[in-house]
Amino acid sequence: MNDRAGTRPFLPFARPTLDEAMAAAVADTLLSGWIASGPQVAAFERALSDYVGGRPVRALTSATGAMEVALAMLGIGPGDEVVTPAQSFFASANVIERVGARAVFVDVDLATRNVDLAAAAAAITPRTRALLPVHYNAPLDPAALAAFRARHGVRIVEDAALAIGSRVAGRPVGAAGDIVSFSFHPNKNLTTIEGGALVLGDEAEAEAVSRLRFHGIVRLPDGTRDVVAAAGKFNLSDVSARLGLLQLARLDGWVAARSRLAARYFERLAGDDLLTPERLPPRDNPGHSWNMFTVLLPLAQTGLTRRDFIEAMAREGIGVGLSYEAIHLTTHFRSRGWREGQFPVAERIGRETVTLPLFPAMTEADVDRVCESAGRILRAGRP
Ligand SMILES: Cc1ncc(COP(=O)(O)O)c(C=O)c1O
Repeated sequence: MNDRAGTRPFLPFARPTLDEAMAAAVADTLLSGWIASGPQVAAFERALSDYVGGRPVRALTSATGAMEVALAMLGIGPGDEVVTPAQSFFASANVIERVGARAVFVDVDLATRNVDLAAAAAAITPRTRALLPVHYNAPLDPAALAAFRARHGVRIVEDAALAIGSRVAGRPVGAAGDIVSFSFHPNKNLTTIEGGALVLGDEAEAEAVSRLRFHGIVRLPDGTRDVVAAAGKFNLSDVSARLGLLQLARLDGWVAARSRLAARYFERLAGDDLLTPERLPPRDNPGHSWNMFTVLLPLAQTGLTRRDFIEAMAREGIGVGLSYEAIHLTTHFRSRGWREGQFPVAERIGRETVTLPLFPAMTEADVDRVCESAGRILRAGRP
């Protein structure tokens, strides 16, 4: 697809990096005689474990499935509460309700978009079993999470869907912490088409996840099978895992490319009177893997709606994402009693946010093109 003038290729807001070698490896696995979970999944789990410093890893069909399994593994269910930010992808909250527990929302920080830990502490009740924070526009601080866990006696399931490849305190996200969940959806830093993984505290937890991702089945000494929990099915295929292995080998290079492109955005937007620094992600953001470049649109100043902006960018051949609506204002969570006005920062982000294109194969000229179009559209204002 080309832009209005038909001269420049459409620039999506996200695109996985896939090449002939990956296609050949996938084809090789496809024809290998074993395509469901098998040796490639085991190899991918070992490689991911090495990447995050040796903690046990289990691969699953998605981050959504992974987080649901993690909560089930912790025995979280009806009568329990899990504290989570009101600004994230819907999956972060849905998984809490999927296991029968109650999602308790709290607000986020405007710049990092990460959960406000003081608000999270204030939301703790005797029913709270876990905190489910999201690595969003900056890596979460492992020391702050460890202190939260110790102070409140709750488990922490980190939603690191956006954050594979991020580093904090000199180590990859996943190297420290309690339970960490990654996504390998095509828009993420590493893709297995669909897929996810959990980094677990110990081998016993990893074995429990192995059971819960595959029907709750255990093998008995006589070779027959038993079911120890009425679990679902969340096992990754070997075809996906083979792709994941090749992607993982490239991850750090791609994160470096993302970081260079983010720097170009900051350079180009420096001094802009509409996209001012408080509307951009934090610039000084060491270790961030830049899965997205999100900005808050100056809607009141320009008279534009977000839809006007997105459509005008599309006419210029530029894709713009929307991450994310405020979760507590969705029909489902309104039906649970959540209301407008409870989390002003999450709601403002939900109204104003857009995600500008950022993926490793982009060039600095692509960033310049996005900034030029966005600046012109915003300055022209409402037609
Ligand atoms: C913050 C966040 N959490 C969870 C998910 C769910 O990931 P998956 O599609 O692998 O289930 C996503 C995907 O967009 C996400 O952005």
